[in-house]
Amino acid sequence: MEPKNLIQHFINNFNAKPEFIVRAPGRVNLIGEHTDYNDGFVLPMAIDRAIWLALRSRPGDQVRIHSLDLETELAFQLNSLKPGTDWIEYPKGVASELMKAGYPLCGFEAVMTGNVPRGAGLSSSAAVELAVARAFAAVSGFEWDAIKMAKISQKAENLWVGVNCGIMDQMASAACHSGHALFLDCRSLEIQYAPLPHGVSVVILDTSTRRGLVDSAYNERRNQCEEAARLFGVKALRDVSVEEFEKSKGEKGLSEVVSRRAKHIVSENDRVLEAVQVMKSGNVRRLGELFNASHDSLRYDFEVTNDALNVMVECAREAPGCYGARMTGAGFGGCAVALVEEEKAEAFTHAVIAAYRQRSGLEASVYVCKASEGASLVHI
Ligand code: GLA
Repeated sequence: MEPKNLIQHFINNFNAKPEFIVRAPGRVNLIGEHTDYNDGFVLPMAIDRAIWLALRSRPGDQVRIHSLDLETELAFQLNSLKPGTDWIEYPKGVASELMKAGYPLCGFEAVMTGNVPRGAGLSSSAAVELAVARAFAAVSGFEWDAIKMAKISQKAENLWVGVNCGIMDQMASAACHSGHALFLDCRSLEIQYAPLPHGVSVVILDTSTRRGLVDSAYNERRNQCEEAARLFGVKALRDVSVEEFEKSKGEKGLSEVVSRRAKHIVSENDRVLEAVQVMKSGNVRRLGELFNASHDSLRYDFEVTNDALNVMVECAREAPGCYGARMTGAGFGGCAVALVEEEKAEAFTHAVIAAYRQRSGLEASVYVCKASEGASLVHI
């Protein structure tokens, strides 16, 4: 939505002009899947789809948010936060963690809207969290620190919402730069910005299937990774190299399944490091091969794809101009991402939609996306 419309909605709702507009983007992960909670490496980029809030401060400790998309207005008191079960839990969780970290918060009223598809693996919840954190920074007048805010938002999701996610999504929504992917070391939170190669489009392919039972499967993968790290005698699988893994996997007592889970993490970390190198040198072909290898590892070793994702990736790989394709995000449904020759992006899009419809009977949504800026204040 254009900020202009958002301003009008704010006026209609609260009979006054907003003081601020903030936005925070969704993300697509280029490579490095399920590595974040193994202290490993990831390479997400913020997309040109976001959550926006128009807001003004209000006296007292109430926070009111009117969601234009869900057509509901919900509120909470900063001084007496109580758990509930609605979308407002994300803003509440952020408020709770900001206060625990010692930030003095002001109340505000806001209208909120967004165009990040929900449950598609593009981090709509991280976008809400970071937009709310940005809103609190604006009305309460504290300095914006992207990394601190990402950590606080992750805690909100872990402790208040109860989803045991890693740090990737919040870091991407908080700290990305336009035109770049964010190369993140999830142990040190050290960041490098990797420029996207010229002449290449990043295309998101939404299978239109949504992940079910994802929390239990996600937690199961986390536990298996932790078990593998324990058996290897290291803090996290990030500390095991591909060579070490191959040399000693037989002597550590890993079950067949746990060994495959660990193999994915160890090899995926290696692929992220190589991906950053080949992005710098502009070797798009190799980058595409790494995408393909990542998907196959997620499909056969980590087992977090579903039929729709596998069919989508196959359709993408056969379409014009494709360098490589893989599932993105937690998996079990949602989106794939493809690296495509820019000039062929349109032909690619048509071909994938038609092939996917024919093979799966489902309608895909396709977004050719731009790498955008992390959470920010919009000038009004
Ligand atoms: C979800 C989680 C992230 C990460 C990915 C998988 O998006 O929120 O922390 O673990 O899955 O890479």
